[in-house]
Amino acid sequence: MSWTPKSWREFPIKQQPKYQDEKLLKSVEEKLASYPPLIFAGEARNLKEDLAKVGRGEAFLLQGGDCAESFNAFDATNIKNIFRLILQMSVVLTFSSSKPVIKVGRIAGQFAKPRSSDFESKDGVELPSYRGDIVNAIEFNENSRVPDPNKLIQAYNQSSATLNLLRAFARGGLADLNEVHRWNLDFIKDNPLGIKYELLSDEIDKAMKFMKACGVDSSTAPQLEHTTLYTSHEALLLNYEEAFTRKDSITGEWYDCSAHMLWIGDRTRDLNEAHIEYFRGIKNPIGCKVGPTMNEDELIQLIDVLNPDNEEGRLNLIVRMGATKIEEFFPSLLKRVKAEGKNVVWSCDPMHGNVEKASNGYKTRDFKNILKEVELFFEIHQREGTVAGGIHLEMTGEDVTECTGSQSCSITENDLSSRYHTQCDPRLNANQALELAFSVGKTLKEYRNS
Ligand code: PEP
Ligand code: CO
Repeated sequence: MSWTPKSWREFPIKQQPKYQDEKLLKSVEEKLASYPPLIFAGEARNLKEDLAKVGRGEAFLLQGGDCAESFNAFDATNIKNIFRLILQMSVVLTFSSSKPVIKVGRIAGQFAKPRSSDFESKDGVELPSYRGDIVNAIEFNENSRVPDPNKLIQAYNQSSATLNLLRAFARGGLADLNEVHRWNLDFIKDNPLGIKYELLSDEIDKAMKFMKACGVDSSTAPQLEHTTLYTSHEALLLNYEEAFTRKDSITGEWYDCSAHMLWIGDRTRDLNEAHIEYFRGIKNPIGCKVGPTMNEDELIQLIDVLNPDNEEGRLNLIVRMGATKIEEFFPSLLKRVKAEGKNVVWSCDPMHGNVEKASNGYKTRDFKNILKEVELFFEIHQREGTVAGGIHLEMTGEDVTECTGSQSCSITENDLSSRYHTQCDPRLNANQALELAFSVGKTLKEYRNS
């Protein structure tokens, strides 16, 4: 069946807002289609090559950022802090695994949210659910919850300014390996985790000095002062993605130029529906969430539709089962994909299967369960002789109190209310994310030596 950037419109679709003003929506879509793309197809091809390395076990994938970016929290400090946190985590992971870390942010476009219910109720009042700042607003009143097409433009503008700053940080000196000490965030610096990071930075300093004495510095090896942070988001609103689907002038192929990598959520991966139709036609590296309801045959069909040429680095399966379910549901899927010789990149999202409601009503996640799911993910791969390629996290560079537990900050249910800022799901704060990176680094090292 022939594919076009808009052929998805012929298919059933879930999780889309219902706009009241169709004419306005159409004019916004046309405007977006005339705007410059955010990324260039060549960059998406580079990421595909990097992910092919991840699939072969030659590199490790670190993907992370907000559950949902917000219009209100849009400022340079937030962007700088998540950038520094990603660098810190990747240094920790590289140091212990001796592998390059491919960094992909859930950033510069991660706005639209699928919801488990179309409506939200509070004190007997029922309103349409919040679907992310690109659609409506989080405040609980009727006006805020009306989908507004102009928000699509605001999301594009914010994405483009965010990406501009990220590119400046990546190339302009902040990512210089001589600066590893400076990546330590102020509120982490003096606690045991910050000190552990400082010790690691000292080791890197020594290595840098040694290499300099041998004639290797940033003038001979520019990768010591530059980095690449790719962008990604859930491509939920297909009209937005369609507007950025552009034909690459070099290859003549279609790319979704709203981000380097896009993924399909666990709620919209139905084989006969619009999201699969859209994704099969774009050439970017793509992801698909794999939750506990996925069955083996369905997964194989999905792989065949999304990656018919069995290309390495094209398809990232993001496993999100939950700590108590991963042993039950994941091994059989992994065995089958391996037996059929499919090239995929496996990564672990230990966030979305581990959501719970605290007794005081806050939506939270326990660090212990997050860690447990990651450990089991590695263990299962080790058993099967397959590659645990990476992790996919919801995290922030800020000192928030959204997930409970961890050694570094031991947040309890009672602490949640103090700095609970997320627009949607609870994120790891910078301490918790760094602690997780140290733990994953240790596991990677053990498996490397086993
Ligand atoms: C998400 O990644 O924010 C998300 C909604 O995940 P999932 O599709 O796995 O539920
Ligand atoms: Co989420």
